[in-house]
Amino acid sequence: MTDTFTVSGQVFLRDGAPHQIISGAVHYFRIPRALWEDRLRRLLAMGANTVETYVAWNFHAPHAGAAPDFTAGADLGAYIDLAGELGLDVIVRPGPYICAEWDLGGFPSWLLTDDAAAGALRTSDPAYLAHVDEWFDVLIPIIAERQLTRGGPVIAVQAENEYGSYGNDAAYLRAMADGLRARGIDVLLFTSDGPEPLMLAGGTVPGLLATANFGSRQAEAFAELARARPDQPGMCMEFWNGWFDHWGARHHTRDAASAAEELAGMLADGRSVNFYMAHGGTNFGVWAGANCHDAEDAGAGPGYQPTITSYDYDAPIAEDGALTAKFEAFRDVIAAHTGRTPPAPPSAPVRLAPRTVEVQASLDLGAVLDGVPTVSAPTPRSFERLGIHHGVVRYVTTVPSTTPPIPAADLHLDGLADLATVMVNGALVGRLGRTQADPAYGPAGDGLRIELDQPVNTIEITVTSLGRVNFGRHLRDPKGLAAVRFSHQHLFGWEHAGLDLTTLPELDWSAAEPTTAVGLEPVTGAGVHRAELDLTEVGDGYLALPGWREGYVFLNGFNLGRYWNAAGPQRTLYAPAPCWRVGSNELVVVEFSGAGDSIEIRQDADLG
Ligand code: GLA
Repeated sequence: MTDTFTVSGQVFLRDGAPHQIISGAVHYFRIPRALWEDRLRRLLAMGANTVETYVAWNFHAPHAGAAPDFTAGADLGAYIDLAGELGLDVIVRPGPYICAEWDLGGFPSWLLTDDAAAGALRTSDPAYLAHVDEWFDVLIPIIAERQLTRGGPVIAVQAENEYGSYGNDAAYLRAMADGLRARGIDVLLFTSDGPEPLMLAGGTVPGLLATANFGSRQAEAFAELARARPDQPGMCMEFWNGWFDHWGARHHTRDAASAAEELAGMLADGRSVNFYMAHGGTNFGVWAGANCHDAEDAGAGPGYQPTITSYDYDAPIAEDGALTAKFEAFRDVIAAHTGRTPPAPPSAPVRLAPRTVEVQASLDLGAVLDGVPTVSAPTPRSFERLGIHHGVVRYVTTVPSTTPPIPAADLHLDGLADLATVMVNGALVGRLGRTQADPAYGPAGDGLRIELDQPVNTIEITVTSLGRVNFGRHLRDPKGLAAVRFSHQHLFGWEHAGLDLTTLPELDWSAAEPTTAVGLEPVTGAGVHRAELDLTEVGDGYLALPGWREGYVFLNGFNLGRYWNAAGPQRTLYAPAPCWRVGSNELVVVEFSGAGDSIEIRQDADLG
């Protein structure tokens, strides 16, 4: 008999028998491929029978024009197959929007260069749907051929994500569901939403299973779901047993006992569950998203809040795979409920011995940008329009002096996203930011008083990007500058030089200063620094950058993510064993505002 997964009244049936889904969210795009199996085995060891993953569109297609990548760490098919081989059922949530504290909620940033689509994200507007169709034509067959109905492990697929928290375009949700069916998805289709009437009204689709997302008060949540959908199985698609962190804000944890109590209640009541997250992993590279609740939102929110690099989430399986007290509590609840003893977990990961590595060569960031081809335009261009997904762009313009001389006035950076360092005639005049997580950056709305007293005045604005908003009405979040004004006058005529830091850019180290970073003493503190280290065996490490302020660290070419000591709460970057090599290893630090001179490898994470 072939495997089956069906719905009968208020229960799921697996191979004809009543079945509770005990699933955990584990995102392949937040874990180095070499660790996929380890993490899935830990999930099995907690007692789960299913793994759930989103698909992050932009991870496969970061730049416009290139065919989506499904190789190496982006090999979604291999991840699903591996889960199936290990005995897990698989739930896929292909978006196209996923939220997930992921840059732009998973949308590729280049979508923002198509004005019609960018103005109609998550709606049935054909300008937007055309992009989704093109993507789904490539993506969905990879999932379809791995469905249970075709001998694979995929038992269910989600349409969109928590749509009721965003909009009410029923034709859009219908198009998502129809688009999945038309491309061969014949397993269970579902939606997931907050357990509230407004959200369920906006986010559910007739004929699709409705599931709910919450972290506590499970009985009330399921009662609310049942009011909307009385005759279907109850499933919590996101059981928030932990939470994520923002730069400049406090680190979140969730008590294991309270989470285990909710879990026990759900299982006893016959519900199905997906832990969000079972294992969070890491927002490596430039992939962390952001939230934005500004003063116009109800309750005058904190404004733009970029998400940190770690996605530990205080989940039962920690960022580095460590099994926490929450893991043990969940495993015990599941074992008691199912009467099954789960398999043993893999052994604990090896850790690198602690050490300090000195910087051996440094480049001034300005000099690196001098070597990049420039783009000229009357108006300052967005990163997206320049083809830069994330990184740094230097905007330069010149203003001649006049007679009589121009009085000093304020320079305004309109639409700044996200951090700017401003130099006039080679002198640092100030820094502005869209977030006040780092006190070095003043509020973006403030102007900077400048004087244009030279025969020809050069204004240089170096902008670095942080995560794009992934939730709510500020989703459309282009990076760079929208306009620059001196007093009320727009300044036109810009030269752009940028570095895309999605992956390590090519760097010419022959011009490097053989001094330490501190010895370089650049005006702005922005530089690129290199250190080498030999290892006789690999293991997990946690990189700390004492004395450094903010930037990215690349290990053997792989972007480990952003560090931001000046903001916190995260103080170390996870550098997993598969990123290291026996023999020589290269660390490259791209620092934006104040370098240190060494990098520490520690044995423990410090998330604040
Ligand atoms: C929502 C989204 C998820 C995630 C969580 C918070 O439920 O659906 O993608 O953003 O919030 O972690």
